[in-house]
Amino acid sequence: MDQTRFYDEAYSEADPAAARGYGEWRALGARTKADHVVALLERGGVRPRRLVEIGCGTGSLLGELAARAVAPALEGFDLSPAAIDIARGQGLTGVRFRAFDGGRVPAEDGAYDVAVLSHVLEHVPDPGALLAEAARLASWVVVEVPLEDNRSAARPAKRAEAARIGHIQFFDRSAVRALCAGAGLAVRAELTDPLARAHQSFGATGTRARARAAVKAGVRRAAWRVSPRAAERAFTVHYACLARSRS
Ligand SMILES: C[S@@+](CC[C@H](N)C(=O)[O-])C[C@H]1O[C@@H](n2cnc3c(N)ncnc32)[C@H](O)[C@@H]1O
Repeated sequence: MDQTRFYDEAYSEADPAAARGYGEWRALGARTKADHVVALLERGGVRPRRLVEIGCGTGSLLGELAARAVAPALEGFDLSPAAIDIARGQGLTGVRFRAFDGGRVPAEDGAYDVAVLSHVLEHVPDPGALLAEAARLASWVVVEVPLEDNRSAARPAKRAEAARIGHIQFFDRSAVRALCAGAGLAVRAELTDPLARAHQSFGATGTRARARAAVKAGVRRAAWRVSPRAAERAFTVHYACLARSRS
């Protein structure tokens, strides 16, 4: 199946209950992702006037960034027209959304101060090309991906789940850094996040499942605090970086 159809079908969820649950999941994710974008921009001393998100999905991250007044002008592009329809339907003030071909964003070189690629590069066949496109559009690029080149994520059930949601790349930190370097970007700040209990326990039903999720979140966070690098090799953490174009 081609990429556009895959995501259009994913965003045209027929089951309203499932769609509602997915919406809550996206809202939870958006808050955490926005925390990361804001933290990295602060660390780089970057105050954007124009920010673009490539692969914005239904716009939940841009909505969160708009609510926090991260930039006066925000734009989102996505491969999926269905996602863009949902994003526009949210009526977010000061945010524009457009579908595009997934390769070239219809905007001039340097049209933005910051380009964000959040949980997109693991979905694309040529992540280096999309990252170079982000670097063409803005001198600062924020990238966030799950680091899935680890022992836990290599288990067949985890790989199958990742494939179901469209992951076709499985990065570790050095692979993301190498992609940045290949796109002419120098990494200036980075962070990892083992994800809070709310993420681990989302969708867990029943006391036992919720308790298991809470223990898992606690153990992972403790392991990550002791040794972030060892944690990355053992289980999935989210990695985000702020990179500056060398040109
Ligand atoms: C997991 S969602 C992330 C949405 C949003 N960035 C966020 O963090 O909540 C991945 C998105 O990437 C989009 N996508 C996949 N391939 C793409 C491409 N080549 N260019 C732009 N978007 C793409 C999908 O349509 C989907 O909306």
